[in-house]
Amino acid sequence: MFLAGWVDVRRDLGNLIFLDLRDHTGIVQVVCRPEVSAAAHDKAQNVRSEFVVGIEGEVVERAPATVNAQLPTGEIEVVAREVLLLNESKTPPFPINAEGKTAEEARLRYRYLDLRHARMQRNIRLRHDASLVVRRHMSERGFAEIETPFLTRSTPEGARDYLVPSRLRHGHFYALPQSPQLFKQLLMMAGFDRYFQIVRCFRDEDLRADRQPEFTQIDIEMAFPQRAELFEIVEGLMEKLFALVGISIARPIPLITYAEAMERYGSDKPHTGFALEWKRVSLTAEAAGKLRAAPEAKALRAANSADYSRSQLDKLQDLAKASGAAWFSYVKLSGNESQSPLSKAVGQAEVESVARAAGALPGEILFLIGCRAEGSSLVNTRRLDEASSALRLELAGRLNLIKPGHWNFAWVVDFPMFEYDEKEQRFTAMHHPFTSPREEDLSILESDSARVKARAYDLVLNGQEIGGGSIRMHRRDIQQRVFKVLGLTEEKARERFGFFMDALEYGAPPHGGIALGWDRIIALMAGESNIREVIAFPKTASAVDLMCEAPASVDPGQLDELGISLKKE
Ligand code: AMO
Repeated sequence: MFLAGWVDVRRDLGNLIFLDLRDHTGIVQVVCRPEVSAAAHDKAQNVRSEFVVGIEGEVVERAPATVNAQLPTGEIEVVAREVLLLNESKTPPFPINAEGKTAEEARLRYRYLDLRHARMQRNIRLRHDASLVVRRHMSERGFAEIETPFLTRSTPEGARDYLVPSRLRHGHFYALPQSPQLFKQLLMMAGFDRYFQIVRCFRDEDLRADRQPEFTQIDIEMAFPQRAELFEIVEGLMEKLFALVGISIARPIPLITYAEAMERYGSDKPHTGFALEWKRVSLTAEAAGKLRAAPEAKALRAANSADYSRSQLDKLQDLAKASGAAWFSYVKLSGNESQSPLSKAVGQAEVESVARAAGALPGEILFLIGCRAEGSSLVNTRRLDEASSALRLELAGRLNLIKPGHWNFAWVVDFPMFEYDEKEQRFTAMHHPFTSPREEDLSILESDSARVKARAYDLVLNGQEIGGGSIRMHRRDIQQRVFKVLGLTEEKARERFGFFMDALEYGAPPHGGIALGWDRIIALMAGESNIREVIAFPKTASAVDLMCEAPASVDPGQLDELGISLKKE
């Protein structure tokens, strides 16, 4: 038989040379014996790791004593009759088979070598298999895959655009799409009632483990949508995807409102896999006054454990304050006693009353955080929520409550339509400006914008947002009103979205959809904590491709053609 691949390891025992031959399916041991072929043995003496070789030989069973139980092919080996040297390799900058020991920078610079690693091969091929599942599932449900342009106008999704200068119209720029949002809506208006696309999106934003400047969405839109039907389609897809890695998911996925998620978990992407939950409590006006805080506070009950040493409690306090709380305290409950550093400031009776209101039991420790008395209550509440989320996750980590192998999905629904941007002193869209407000909130759209709820939803898995979407506005008058609340004048709206506003006037059907974060989903399926591990050629946290060194400077002639001159540094 003939085999070809890379030499993973060569072991030279003098009269016997072993080559571990590797390709994406795994490793097989090749034996070169001079008595079988002196030429093959000679050639094998010169090969090194990562050389590309072809082997003509015979598969034989290994002697029982030499069986390698670690290897799927460990019961056989290939006795070489001929070794063909197909290509040599320099010594790689890191060993291909050393799991987890190579610096990230080297891995990204030599990504083509890093990708030879079995884990990376598995991840990237899993992504391929998963794409097939998406295409089959969506096609079976009547969705057509349609491509939308990359060279387009800016579509707001809350990040900065990547811009591409036009050579033919100096001073004009295309924007790479942050998502195909407007195009998929236009497809609904064009009569393609069910669309999907596995599509690249581009966002110039701060990067983290779950964010890349270019990433992939499973983008979905349907006309005449029923939210329940869309959820059913997405849940069915999730079920099939996770089945690929042997995980069965519980359906239907539970729904939680945004308000409840914020109250109980302090987050709109709550990890619902463990019980720690916050409860709102209030201090008496007198106690609040003594703390110079607002009466609203949040309380979380946790099992009292030896883990809470003084210095650990101090660290929790630091975290709470750094993430937005104005004050932090705790109450330790044992027997009939409750002990708290807060007693000194507000009195024991107040401490006991708060502990009772929070339902704290003996043997528990009650964590308390609160916000400032002064300032905007919207901002204070947001800070309090951020602190409660950070503390909850920290405690879950310390108490080892996040168990691997648990898959906690949740739909978060009933998001507020608008968020108030303190800095810019205006409302921004919490999802995006094409999301429909609830029918029953139309009457307060302008008068009480902060209370308007959107027909938006997110899909969350183990505390990560893996998808987001909404039912859209399909009537121009309502779209116009929303733009106005967002501070877009009619002229500005016309300038930016005129084509879209026009389209709404030609019989736009009701429509809605969702986009799933493909990289995040594959990473979760593969058990990876960074989406870089499931992207063949990802970028660093500063949006650099280390391998081809992009972004790069360009020829002055090229800039000239584009009518661009650079500012002096
Ligand atoms: P949204 O902005 O919520 O919605 O994006 C959808 C999902 O895409 C993933 N995601 C990212 N993944 C990796 N890197 C990034 N930089 C990144 N940004 C977002 C998240 C997110 O849930 N047009 C709307 C969808 C709609 O309304 O139908 C949109 O793009 O998992």
